[in-house]
Amino acid sequence: MYLRSPICYNGAYEQWGAAPSAPRKGCVIVRNLGHRGFSGKYPENTMLAYRKAVEAGADGVELDVQLTKDGEVVVIHDERVDRTTDGQGFVRDFTLADLRKLDASYLYKQAGVRNPVPTFEEYCEWAAAAGCITNVELKNGVYPYPALEEKTLALLRKYHLEQKVIISSFNHFSVLRMKELAPDLEYGLLEESWVFHPGAYAAALGVQCYHPFWGSLTDDTVADLKAHHLKINTFTVNDEAAIRSLLAKGVDCVIGNFPDLTAAVLAG
Ligand code: G3P
Ligand code: CA
Repeated sequence: MYLRSPICYNGAYEQWGAAPSAPRKGCVIVRNLGHRGFSGKYPENTMLAYRKAVEAGADGVELDVQLTKDGEVVVIHDERVDRTTDGQGFVRDFTLADLRKLDASYLYKQAGVRNPVPTFEEYCEWAAAAGCITNVELKNGVYPYPALEEKTLALLRKYHLEQKVIISSFNHFSVLRMKELAPDLEYGLLEESWVFHPGAYAAALGVQCYHPFWGSLTDDTVADLKAHHLKINTFTVNDEAAIRSLLAKGVDCVIGNFPDLTAAVLAG
């Protein structure tokens, strides 16, 4: 049987937001996170997509943070705005005021409806009220964004989201930087490569989670991660067969573009 949050791991019991029901013997608790929100159906990394993910049964969302020219934390995936907005150029070359003039839903034409690139503060305020889990990906694999970790952390603390967040990045140096600033948070290493002995690597860095591309999760890799007591939060899982196979392997979290599908599989 699969349950939504709260989560259970290593025999411990951890509460995420809402009051937990009593843990049931034999239950496996798996988190369902909407990747960039409910991005399979709504414009990715918009407040609309986050709201829709939670409405569709997600425990929360995964999102990507970067910095504007004037140092504001914003939520957008690409280093350029071109693919997801009606603008052109690098995020880091826009002031927040100019970035907010763009429409992050221009591909989803609905007369008169605009969805700006969210500020991370706007997101945090909503997430605190919604009580959902957030996987914040520090999107600094291409540009280092000085102080992205400090600024992200300040907002998480301002909205008391420490117990409801997982920080991840492909930039493992950044994960460690933020972990030094805030050892009380949960951290995960993002990885698209098929890493040799990832359990020993992640354990040596002192993180709690590993965030692998789902296709790289061989049985040996899963066993290796579990032997090192790492939670396995895998991306980007968009079809039913893959979700079922990953649940059978014992992953802890499914990050996908269709949280409604993941919710249906978890409920079934
Ligand atoms: O965090 C999982 C996933 O979002 C990492 O890849 O490129 O979608 O940010 P990407
Ligand atoms: Ca991401």
